[in-house]
Amino acid sequence: TVDEPAPLPPLGWNSWNTFYCNINEQMIRQSADAMVSSGMAAAGYQYVVVDDCWMQDTRDAAGNLRANTSRFPSGMKALGDYIHSKGLKFGIYHAPREKTCDQYFGNRPGTSSNGYETRDAQLFASWGVDYVKHDWCDPRGTVQEQAALFKKFGDALKATGRPIVYSINPNSAHTNTAPTYSGWGAFADMWRTSEDLKDAWSTGCPPSDHWCFVGITEALDIIEPMREWTRPGQYNDPDMLMVGVRNTLTPTENRAHMSMWAMLSAPLIAGNDMRNMSADVRAVLTNREVLAIDQDPLVRQADRVRDDGDAEVWVKPLADGSAAVALLNRGNSARTISATLAEAGLPTRTSTFRDLWTGASGQTADRLTANVPAHGVVLYRVTTGGTPGEPTPTPTPQPTGAT
Ligand code: GLA
Repeated sequence: TVDEPAPLPPLGWNSWNTFYCNINEQMIRQSADAMVSSGMAAAGYQYVVVDDCWMQDTRDAAGNLRANTSRFPSGMKALGDYIHSKGLKFGIYHAPREKTCDQYFGNRPGTSSNGYETRDAQLFASWGVDYVKHDWCDPRGTVQEQAALFKKFGDALKATGRPIVYSINPNSAHTNTAPTYSGWGAFADMWRTSEDLKDAWSTGCPPSDHWCFVGITEALDIIEPMREWTRPGQYNDPDMLMVGVRNTLTPTENRAHMSMWAMLSAPLIAGNDMRNMSADVRAVLTNREVLAIDQDPLVRQADRVRDDGDAEVWVKPLADGSAAVALLNRGNSARTISATLAEAGLPTRTSTFRDLWTGASGQTADRLTANVPAHGVVLYRVTTGGTPGEPTPTPTPQPTGAT
């Protein structure tokens, strides 16, 4: 329905993390092609989102936004048509303040949606836009001011009658001191929960430092207390994926990042160059069993049930009564992490566990134990099964996966 354009967390790709402003219609088309040819589309990814720098700094005489003609000479409608012809969906970036983020920091003139909500929403709908990323990008502005302007544009999108996913980036969330404000879900489908994610396991950013980019682990700490806000159609957004972006993260870190975003029921918006993906990066992004954890219809954000310094246990209940259990090692050396079935919210009886990265499986009636590599996650899907009282096999430590 128009009210719920994304009943499950959106899966897609966005140009920013790899390309910043170096975008043009040819590479966006190639990216759409690659989403299909790489198997990403078959795995469920569908939104191709053009981030900042697609538009001109000024409106036309009638007051309409227009594409940057050197980057997008064929215009945005033609680009949307191309994306749709591949069976994919079209996303675009906009900003409610006087400038987009690039304009703000480049101190160039801007193109705010403020006062143009209906005009811009109708223009986007006429271009076939299916997803809007609306970015506050201004250090000023109270939560109330942000909520008011974001809601105004969300209402204008709804009034077009076209189902459009509404993704917002309220900079109040960028104090990196969650929880800040719980009301975004009243008018947005997804909202950013922290500052821009960096392609790093940790940035050492102090949680209170406004405008300080966060690493994978800091993003988890910030989003954790917002657990109740995620529900079908409304998603905490810890930011777009850094899997394969500049190949900075190690394969182990890529798997951990992907595992944890799936545990959160986060929107999975890839940020790599899909045209040049290694087999390993493709395998991480398209792991069907991990995607199924993210797309589970219960749409619950995992709970951190144990936090022993660098060793953490996160648990996500799933619609079929099973649970996803992530054993997360934040530290710099391998360690054994273990969690009881009771901690995972499961009955203490014979259960089958499956490692979603190695495919190894086993049974236990007691606890899950694994040797987890540094900066790694062992991700299990645990299903209660077998006959109560039967002998409990000792779980074998799982392969840690080479980096
Ligand atoms: C902000 C957002 C990023 C990106 C840039 C574009 O920093 O958080 O995701 O959209 O703006 O300028």
